[in-house]
Amino acid sequence: MMQLIDGKATATAIKAEIAEEVRQIVANGGKQPHLAAVLVGHDGGSETYVKNKVIACEQCGFKSTLIRFEENVTEAELLACVDKLNKDEDVDGFIVQLPLPKHIDEQKIVEAVDYRKDVDGFHPINVGRMAIGLPCFISATPLGILTLLQRYGIATSGKKCVVLGRSNIVGKPMAQLMLQKQYGDATVTVCHSHSPSLKDECREADIIVAAIGRPDFVTADMVKEGAVVIDVGTTRVEDPSRKGGFRLNGDVKYDEVAPKCSFITPVPGGVGPMTICSLMKNTLSAGKKEFYK
Ligand code: GUN
Repeated sequence: MMQLIDGKATATAIKAEIAEEVRQIVANGGKQPHLAAVLVGHDGGSETYVKNKVIACEQCGFKSTLIRFEENVTEAELLACVDKLNKDEDVDGFIVQLPLPKHIDEQKIVEAVDYRKDVDGFHPINVGRMAIGLPCFISATPLGILTLLQRYGIATSGKKCVVLGRSNIVGKPMAQLMLQKQYGDATVTVCHSHSPSLKDECREADIIVAAIGRPDFVTADMVKEGAVVIDVGTTRVEDPSRKGGFRLNGDVKYDEVAPKCSFITPVPGGVGPMTICSLMKNTLSAGKKEFYK
């Protein structure tokens, strides 16, 4: 029987657990966790993500600060903002929403963030520590997926896992985490747009994590009977029947793939809510100085 993985309900439950912990911290005289977010320009997707992050902060009992810049902000101005947030003792963690405009060197901004406040887990120090299994901030989407697998009691140890996509934010950290003994302990294959055997690799997989950003890419003929399918895709597709004029489309052709799966995540309501929930978890960890003093 196919079981739906309800990311929305799981995220709601975890945010309630976080809120309870924050209540106790504050009741004991501790500091309320504080997340700051920097948003550049008016990209629809980024606006939505940041708005949802601010709402999640409220649900968790965190303080949040939103800092906005217009599209024409200079790299120097953005670096000055990052520097200020690095030094602000009230701010436990902060994120700079990506993507940034083309005239700004994204990597330079990412590396300017103090790794001890890098709740996105994008700084090379966090990426490196994650890769060798040391305590650190872990990229929110892979962390959310690991949490879903755990909470649904899905075994990963010794399983064959295929990760589709090799982005720095999802594909690469997901593959690293699924590989590591302390997290997935799986046999991991990473496939991408230039992998000739991609379909064959998928057909052998016990777990598929689809993060390539191509709507309906994973079809039923690519999925083994009883596989676990995690859909990270969130491509905006035009849809005049929706109130916003678009819908979110996953990387998995859900209707035909779902009947073959033991577990599958829907889009929306699967991985998306867990990504934000993991950012909240990282912010709580930052507030508690769990990884770094
Ligand atoms: N853009 C897409 N995903 C993310 C994310 O997790 N964090 C930030 N800062 N930007 C993103």
